[in-house]
Amino acid sequence: MKKFIAVSILLVLLAVVLPASLVGAAPPAQDEDYTVQADDWLSKLADKFYGDVNAYWAIMSATNLANADDPSYTKIENPDTIEVGSKLRIPSAEDAQAFMADFDPTNADVEKLFASGASGQLLVGNWWTSGGEFAGVNEVYEFYRQEYPDVELIHAGIAGGAGVNFKGANLNKLIAGDPFDTFQLHAGLEAEAYSPETYLQPVDDILAETGVLDVMPEDLKNLLKVRGNTYTVPLNIHRGNVMWTNTRVLEQAGVEVPTNFEEFFATCEALQAQGIVPLGMGIADGFELGHTFEVALSGTVGAENALGLFNGSVPWSDPGVTEALENFDRMLDCTNEDRAASNWVGGIDLVINDQAAFNIMGDWAYGEIIAKGATDYVTWNSPPGNQDQFFLVSDGFAITVDAPNLENARNFVKIITRKDAQEAFNQNKGSICARTDCDYSTFPADRSAYFQAAADDFASSRIIPMVAHGSGAIPSWQQQFGDIVTQFASDRDIDAAQNAFILAAEDAGYPQS
Ligand code: GAL
Repeated sequence: MKKFIAVSILLVLLAVVLPASLVGAAPPAQDEDYTVQADDWLSKLADKFYGDVNAYWAIMSATNLANADDPSYTKIENPDTIEVGSKLRIPSAEDAQAFMADFDPTNADVEKLFASGASGQLLVGNWWTSGGEFAGVNEVYEFYRQEYPDVELIHAGIAGGAGVNFKGANLNKLIAGDPFDTFQLHAGLEAEAYSPETYLQPVDDILAETGVLDVMPEDLKNLLKVRGNTYTVPLNIHRGNVMWTNTRVLEQAGVEVPTNFEEFFATCEALQAQGIVPLGMGIADGFELGHTFEVALSGTVGAENALGLFNGSVPWSDPGVTEALENFDRMLDCTNEDRAASNWVGGIDLVINDQAAFNIMGDWAYGEIIAKGATDYVTWNSPPGNQDQFFLVSDGFAITVDAPNLENARNFVKIITRKDAQEAFNQNKGSICARTDCDYSTFPADRSAYFQAAADDFASSRIIPMVAHGSGAIPSWQQQFGDIVTQFASDRDIDAAQNAFILAAEDAGYPQS
């Protein structure tokens, strides 16, 4: 089974297809203890004891409840990784059945999997389930757990890059009156998707109380205000436009890092002639194509025009858009043919594994490079034409009006404003702090140069709030933008795509003529 995904709702789907390779045991009439053996995994045990691979949730819940009274039972935070020797509680068949009847993993019912601490739970909804992402957020959890050991913190991670699966699930929970206590969202217009006046608590008082506003970059502060209130406490600033570069592959192929499109296509040809994939790409999460096109667009038309396209001052009929689509069309020809088979992690993995020269992705990909030990040969460059442009993507957390554990949620977002928590998080996540006073020279030596460079570039570049990540356009325009690019990647019809952009911009409230 995959490693490292915490309580990921999508694991249910994985579990369904797991082979039953243990001979079935009689369903337990009463609770039993079980010690994990080599080659055991939870769904395999569920199959063995109950003939139902999905019933591993019942084992997880029973074991966690037992652990609350008796620490000799293992606490299972991640159903994907149970250590040999762990002590589990196998509930009776009747209890397991009763639990499963009431448990809906597709509704992120994860609170039922954990005991409640003396001070309740804290349900943290988010989409950070990849290796680098979880390594980052887990650092924040550690700070919280140290300060509030009596709270049971629950990482409710719903896999899918850029929140593609999380956002809908989260909205459903809000509407159903069953919200997370706190949840991840991007700074900027994304809050609009959650009817903030109805479902979210303003956090202006918390930001003022912690003093973080004194050290928060102005560009970020401006983004945070939604109709007069702030609903998001920011944790980081990602750079969305980086061309990750495998120096070993380049050296072996005898090519230089391209800086503009002309050079990029020449390099692409030279690499392909040697059988090397120039631009590694994975698109399975659905956001990656729109993301890459957005980077190509600003690389073609320049930062001011790119901003103008989304604020209505430049029409989408502009010849620069045609040229950007032409460039993107040629870039797609430089990617691996099986790009649909994997997501953004698969894209950066091609570079990490010496199977591609470049990957264009935000610096959450650096989190993967760090987690996979590739910082000494994977470096960063500007994508073609993106010099002096910094695509701003900022993650933060909101508090819900009906949060079951409101006080715990307020304390959580206070923790994330802290310098020490942001430093610990960001040195694993690949982003810089949402504060100007972090000291990147204290970050591990293999990576501190990247963070310092990103912070310097953030201070000196033109900042472009990124559309593909919720900061640069209202949610419906963001959605249409991504859909048009996805359609384009399959039909490669430049006129159709440009016309669709014109109509979508009009829909978003920007008259085009
Ligand atoms: C972005 C988010 C990042 C990273 C990435 C891939 O939208 O801001 O933190 O997680 O998605 O999931």
